[in-house]
Order: sequence, then structure tokens, then C-alpha cells
Amino acid sequence: MNAPDILHLLTLQIPVGQADRLAAWLGEAVDVAAVEHTRRGAASAWVEVAVPDATQARLIEAAARSAFPVEASRIQVQTPRDWVAACQAHFPVVEAGRRLRIVPAHLDPRPAPTAGRSDVVVQCGLSFGTGQHFTTRFCLDALDRLADREPGASVLDVGCGTGVLALAASALGFGPVAGTDLDPSAVAQATENAGLNPGIPPPSFLVHDLTAGPLPVRADIVVANLFSRLLVDYARRLDAAAGRWLLLTGIQEPETDDVLAAFLPLGWTVARAEGDAEWSGLVLRRGGR
Ligand SMILES: C[S@@+](CC[C@H](N)C(=O)[O-])C[C@H]1O[C@@H](n2cnc3c(N)ncnc32)[C@H](O)[C@@H]1O
Repeated sequence: MNAPDILHLLTLQIPVGQADRLAAWLGEAVDVAAVEHTRRGAASAWVEVAVPDATQARLIEAAARSAFPVEASRIQVQTPRDWVAACQAHFPVVEAGRRLRIVPAHLDPRPAPTAGRSDVVVQCGLSFGTGQHFTTRFCLDALDRLADREPGASVLDVGCGTGVLALAASALGFGPVAGTDLDPSAVAQATENAGLNPGIPPPSFLVHDLTAGPLPVRADIVVANLFSRLLVDYARRLDAAAGRWLLLTGIQEPETDDVLAAFLPLGWTVARAEGDAEWSGLVLRRGGR
């Protein structure tokens, strides 16, 4: 899919405590990756989504206003370049786990290497996955921990976005590594990001919609940073693709029990559970401890 020529950037101002929920709702309701902006000490946060169509932007604005305590909103017409520039301005270097560092591709000069950390270079685009969000960091950290225990295991990242998790898995020595996403532009961006990391064995990225059919790849470790409804409804499909480990996130904290109720009866046990009061992440292991 080619990038649209014009984007309608909807900015919603909301009390800071509601921003994660609004961003997740946008992701679920309209399947659009949202970007959150907060300022230290500010009571409000700003959540932005970019869509090609003006009517769609107005409908999302109206729906968000009826479902959330939106304090103010506006729609601006932008080119994709403006949007990418805005993302770049808010994309810092992120250290994750003990051995990873996510580096934005636009930084010139690139930061000096940090001893003991592998860099994963990711370009800001229209897809989710720059390593800043709790859910992405949770997966990066969990992969880092598993690298000691499961060296060389195969990994599948369902909903790969920018490809950051698959690239990190390859950098940690897992292989083969694959990523799937229903959005062809995410797959294109993930493939482009693989090209920015010549030192990392390139994962294979494939277009696949989890709701449409069985996953095209099986792996020892399956990572899914999606959202709770999808995890619950397609638990059997994720279970069928996963050998020994499932890393699940994109879960809002109160929905954690629903996700567990879908996976534990399939023979998974909880090896690790983490949360930040808004989001939670689960590391599940097949069988007993
Ligand atoms: C929250 S982002 C995660 C991106 C990246 N893996 C990370 O952890 O930063 C979720 C991704 O899942 C994709 N997605 C949503 N629904 C999906 C589905 N039904 N099948 C496959 N991918 C899906 C979205 O396009 C998006 O790129």
C-alpha cells in the first residue's frame, strides 16, 4: 500500500490518566496506531492519530468525544512527511532489557555504542513500535531474559508494526525470526527497518491477518503485542503457532484475567506477569513450571 498524499491529523487533549486508554481504544475501534504526548507535570496529555480521510477523522473525533472526557480536539491537514517529522521529534534512544538499545534512524550522528548493548535501528513511520511504550519494552525485556534460557530458539512476532521486536530477537541470537502484520505498510516498513540493520540477520516479514486464518509460521516463542479482545478470541490460533513460550501484551490491566482465562485452560502457565497500572504483559510457558 502506498502512503497517502494527505493525512488528517486528529489531536485529542485528555486528562493524563486517560491517555493510554484512549490510545488503546483508538487502536481497537479504528485500527489506527495512536501516538501519545505527555509533558512532565502536565495534567493533560495529547493523543494523535493520522488518517487519510477527512470524514473518517471527524467521525473518530465525535466517537472519542462521546466515549472519553476529551478536553479539546483539532484536525490538521498534513503530509506524511510532517507526521514522520512529528514522530521523530518524540522518539528518544530507548535502552531495553540488559542487552538492547533502540536507536531512531534519523539521529545524525548516531549515538556512540553502549558496551554490552546491541543497537536496533528503527525508522519512524506510520507504524507502532519505537520501544517507548510499556508493551513494547515488556516484550523486549522478556525476549532478552529468554535469550539465556532458549538460545537460538525460533521467534514469531504477531503484529510486528515497525519490526522492532523481530529485529531485537534476531539481534539477541534467536532464529529463524518472522513477523506478521495485517497492515501491508507495516510489513513494508519492517522490511525497510531490517535493511537499516545490516549486522542483524534479517527476519522474514509477512502480511497476515490473525483473524483471517492460522498463522503461516510456527515458532518456539510467539510474541503478540495486540489487544485483549484479539488475544482472547484467537487464543487457539496463537496456541497452535507457539511451541514453548507466549509473550502476550497490549492488555489493559483490568483485562488480564480475561486473557489468562483464555490461555490457562490450553495448558499454559504464568512464568512472569508485569504491569504499569495501565498495561500488563504476560510471559506464559507451555505446561508446568
Ligand atoms: C501495538 S502494535 C505492536 C507493534 C510492535 N510489535 C511492538 O511491540 O511495538 C500492534 C500491531 O498489530 C497489528 N495488528 C492489529 N490487528 C492485527 C491482526 N488481526 N492480525 C495481525 N496484525 C494485527 C497492527 O497493525 C499493529 O502493527
